[in-house]
Amino acid sequence: MDDQGFIPFHKPSIGDQEIAAVTAVLRSGWLTMGPKTREFEHAFAKYIGCRHAVAVNSGTAALHLALDAIGLGPGDEVIVPVNTFTATAAVVAQTGARVVFADTLPDGFNIDPADAAARVSLRTRVIVPVHLGGEPCRMDELGAISAKLGLAVIEDAAHALPAEYRGRRVGTISPLTAFSFYATKTITTGEGGMLTTDNEDFAHRAEMMRLHGISHDAWKRYTQEGSWCYEVVEAGFKYNMTDIQAALGLCQLKRADEFHRVRCSYAALYRELLADTDHVELPEVPPDVTHAWHLFIIRLRLEELRINRNEFIEELRKAGIGTSVHFIPLHLQPYYARAFGCRRGDCPNAERTYERVISLPIYPAMSVEDVERVAASVRRIAEAGRKVQVSVAASV
Ligand SMILES: Cc1ncc(COP(=O)(O)O)c(C=O)c1O
Repeated sequence: MDDQGFIPFHKPSIGDQEIAAVTAVLRSGWLTMGPKTREFEHAFAKYIGCRHAVAVNSGTAALHLALDAIGLGPGDEVIVPVNTFTATAAVVAQTGARVVFADTLPDGFNIDPADAAARVSLRTRVIVPVHLGGEPCRMDELGAISAKLGLAVIEDAAHALPAEYRGRRVGTISPLTAFSFYATKTITTGEGGMLTTDNEDFAHRAEMMRLHGISHDAWKRYTQEGSWCYEVVEAGFKYNMTDIQAALGLCQLKRADEFHRVRCSYAALYRELLADTDHVELPEVPPDVTHAWHLFIIRLRLEELRINRNEFIEELRKAGIGTSVHFIPLHLQPYYARAFGCRRGDCPNAERTYERVISLPIYPAMSVEDVERVAASVRRIAEAGRKVQVSVAASV
């Protein structure tokens, strides 16, 4: 590593406001779900522009509650993009339904609507678009397919706060959308998530199921107006958010637009600094979307390089730069191969893309100099790693 210090793949932006807000909750005598969680839910719903927001302890929980709300179960099938984190598919498997993976677009990271449609069967009930890295999926095409075939759409928006598709904010487009506030996400509560919906029945079901399936307002049972008496109406989960997390989330939400502006400016800076870098392709952004820039994913032109993606990552690590890969296609993971009979070759676009992607650091706690250093390192490694052209004259 050089002597300029390590640039981690991610670092959250936690300021004095967050520390004061969390401290105030710790001093308040009420730690678990309570008034701060309600306040966060209202503020989040207002920010997104939806009617209901249900706060939970992870994005995974939000996805699971969405599947529960539509009554998914054994015998059902769900179309899940193969290029996502395991949580998107694992919650489907946990309901007893079958995961059916759809391939990514040949030149992108998101689900290919045509491939998704081709994998629909009589048992398919849901499509789960994942806005990978914060780039909204082709929601009009997916919406048309789901309307034609009578499918539900549940969006995995773990990467997509804030993002817009054709003027509509992600979180308002489909009946159910799941957000994540995991430590690396665009706003964080350490661990946490939010389910958004305009449907009152879905919201009530999710509120009940996140807290043990207890009839209503279970969290109030230890307040002055609460009662010790309650009714368990379903076998619920323990998915509620705490007020400690919500206090953090409220501060982060207030800064979400500012964070987004910085992410957009760093994405633009990467594009400028890497524009004419041979052997590296930059993310394409459709004209009609607002990208959340949770991730900035470059693709190596491996056919022009002597080094592979893993070696490129190792060179960046030696230069003091943390990176990641989003994602190892799920059909190549042992569990999904075993449980659903997936094989290499099932999703060729995702397999090809996976071999050549690197996610560069992009977050507001980086400085402009950090972005410049990352870009300079990418350029240097790409240049040094290029295949040597043997001229005809030299070889005879
Ligand atoms: C695409 C995607 N979906 C879902 C999740 C799950 O979110 P959480 O970690 O909050 O449970 C993640 C988390 O990293 C993710 O990247």
